[in-house]
Parts: sequence; C-alpha cells; structure tokens
Amino acid sequence: MSAIYISGGKPLNGSVRVQGAKNSVLPILAATILSGEPCVIRNCPNLLDVGTSVRILQHLGCKAAYKDGVVTVDTAGMNRYDVPEDLMREMRSSVVFLGAILSRTGEAVMSYPGGCDLGSRPIDLHISSLKQMGADIREEGGFLICKAHRFTGCDICLPIPSVGATENIMLAAALARGTTRIFNAAHEPEIGDLQAFLNAMGGKVSGAGSSTVVIEGVRRLNGTEHQVIPDRIAAATLLTAVASAGGEIELTKARPDDLAILLSVLNEAGCTIQTDGTVIHAKRDGQLKPMGRVQTMPHPGFPTDAQALLMAVACRAEGVTVFCETIFDGRYRHVGELLRMGADIQVVERVAVVKGVKRLTGARVCSTDLRGGAALAVAALAAEGETALSGLNHIDRGYERFEENLASLGADIKRK
Ligand code: UD1
Repeated sequence: MSAIYISGGKPLNGSVRVQGAKNSVLPILAATILSGEPCVIRNCPNLLDVGTSVRILQHLGCKAAYKDGVVTVDTAGMNRYDVPEDLMREMRSSVVFLGAILSRTGEAVMSYPGGCDLGSRPIDLHISSLKQMGADIREEGGFLICKAHRFTGCDICLPIPSVGATENIMLAAALARGTTRIFNAAHEPEIGDLQAFLNAMGGKVSGAGSSTVVIEGVRRLNGTEHQVIPDRIAAATLLTAVASAGGEIELTKARPDDLAILLSVLNEAGCTIQTDGTVIHAKRDGQLKPMGRVQTMPHPGFPTDAQALLMAVACRAEGVTVFCETIFDGRYRHVGELLRMGADIQVVERVAVVKGVKRLTGARVCSTDLRGGAALAVAALAAEGETALSGLNHIDRGYERFEENLASLGADIKRK
C-alpha cells in the first residue's frame, strides 16, 4: 500500500498555481447532459473524481475524455439513464447527475451516493425538491427509480442551504416548463460557476451568490466552452501548509474573495497575507497565535472543508483554539490521527478544543477523508521526524499533484 512520507521542519518557499475547483467541475460535467451538443470544459483538475464523472458520462453513452486539463464531452449519443452502483459509491457528487439525467431522458435509476464519510449525509432535500418539480421517485432495494415527464418550475424553500440540492434543482430547472425559484439557496462560489455554465449554454439563471436563485426554464441548451473557477479548498490547503511549516509562498490563479474568512483567520494567527488580483502572498515567520473560536458555516462563513486544515495549524499555535463544526455531524475523524502526532485536542460532540503544543512528532497516520487526509500532511510539515500518511485514495479524489506541489515549495515529501 503506497504512502506519502513527510519529514517536517522545512519552511515552504515559492509559487504554485491553484488547480481548478473539484466541486465546480463535477456539477458542470453533469450539466453537459442537458445539451445534446459538444462542450469543452477547461481548467479541469486531474482527479479521481473527474475520472469518475467521465466514466459516468461514458456509461450513459456520451463521448467524454480528459486530456491536459480539458474535458471534452459530446452527449448527443446518450442512450442510457442508469448510473452503476460502483460509480455512485465513488463520490458524493454522483447524485447531481440525477436532476440532469431525469431532465434529459425523463427517467433515471441510481443508488445512494458515496463520498467522504462525514457522518450522516442524507439526500432527502434533493429528492423532495425534484418531487416538487413533478418527479416520481421510488426507493427500491437501495435504488432510486425516478421518472419525470418534463419538470415544472415552482418555488422551493430549502430548510438548509444545501450545495448539492441547490445544484440538482438548478440542473432540473434549466429545461423545465416555467420558472423555478430556490429560496435559502447555497451561496457557495461553485453555485456561481454552475450558473455561468448554464447561461453559457443558453440558460436563464440568476441570483447565484445570493439566497434566491431563479431559473427560467428554456426549450433547449446549446454546447459551449467554459473555464472552471479556481479551487478555494486546494488554495486553503497550501495556505494552511505555509502557516504550519513557516516560509513565504505565492498562489497564482486564485480568487481571494472566495477565501476571505480563511485569510482573515490566518492573519489573526500571525501570518502575513496580501492579495493582488488573482495572486495571494502568504508568509509565516513568527510563533502562531491562537485563533479564538472557529465555527463552520455555509458560505461566506468559515468552510467546513477547511476545518481540519486549520485545526492542523492550531495544533502548534500558542494557546487554545475552539472549533465548532455545524455542517456535518461526523467531521472530526482526523482528530484521532492528529493525537498520534502529539496534538492536544478534546472533542465533545460538535466542539473540538485544541491546545497548542510545542512540538508535533512524525507518526504513521491514515487519511480518514479527503480534507482530513490533507490536514494530516499539513500537520506533518511542522512535525519533528517522519510521518507516513496512508489512505491516499482520499487525497487523490480531490488534489492534483498533491506532493509535487508541496515538494516544489521545498517540503521533504515523497510518495512510495
Ligand atoms: C458540498 C461539498 C462539500 C462541502 C459541503 C458543504 C461537493 C461535491 N461537496 O457537499 O465538499 O463540505 O458542500 O459546504 O460540492 N443535507 C441534508 N439533506 C440533503 C442534503 C444535505 O440534510 O438532502 C445536509 C447535510 O447532511 C449537511 C448539510 O445539509 O449537514 C450541508 O450539506 P450540503 O451542502 O448538501 O453538502 P454537499 O453538497 O454534500
């Protein structure tokens, strides 16, 4: 079983280009189904999850290929409406294919999606929203058997601003009869990217980034080209890496506004952060200060996807940082692994109290989920001695050139 070996204590220096956003490219690839014409998606990261989406499209009878950061898709030949269980289990995003497949073919069959184990991750809001738009969805032996003649636009009020449910509704509504309004929609930047893609296809979507997204259904959508936005969590990973290891780095092709709250917390922790257009400069040369209380919230609040990453930094800060995870009920699985490295963390339900320690030590640790795994690498960069990080399948689902990027900044990191 391969592992990443990190010998900590080397400061990071240099420049890295931020990869395209995993959480944008996946719903955008699902959206290509809505047009029977060719689409070209640029700035796609080379990830297992992108490969899984390409395989789903191919299984459906579409032409789809990844090459050098570009996915080309032609869905003209789509002739199936089922997604195999093994592909559904690979990633959470497989569920956003539901709205798109149903919209295109009027039928869909799929199992429950997989993805990171962050506690319970129901899809009840996806299902109830599509039902409100006219879908008939039955559950049979762990499968969803779905039919929808043509979706009808309606008002949907989400009790939680779910990212995936907002995306699924947008995909179902783009070709629906009439107008759909999503109240309490997710505000995440990836919703804006999906809106931009649907509009480039000839859709009529507005409001992304606010609480109300409005989708006027159109009769048809055309093929198009699109550039995926930068991955704010991949950027957050590199920023927390320099906060942990020390040094001075520059991230290019970033969108600093998407990271505003993380940048402010890192400033508070004693890092020097400067932004200039699409470039972020980050420096840490002194002792890290505690970050007070960090509560995960829907965007523009502190992202749950950066909670583990920042916790890895807090482990070595002076004093106490308190985390409160409000989005997922099982998102502290990395804590047990950080404890193996000498961290001092107490978890009570959704609260984790991190007391900074003078030193972390290298250990054999295992990725518990995608961001939890990256967080262990962030901690390892500041640890004394060698860390062996296994469970790399998680990391490869979401990071392109994970160890190459850190090595280019001067980290002592290798995969063997
Ligand atoms: C997306 C991101 C994930 C990020 C999360 C929150 C992708 C592929 N993944 O996940 O990286 O951590 O947003 O920013 O984009 N919920 C329900 N019922 C539903 C749907 C969600 O109760 O039908 C709950 C979830 O359990 C969770 C909360 O809503 O407590 C938010 O989940 P959601 O925004 O849907 O996250 P994902 O779209 O799965």
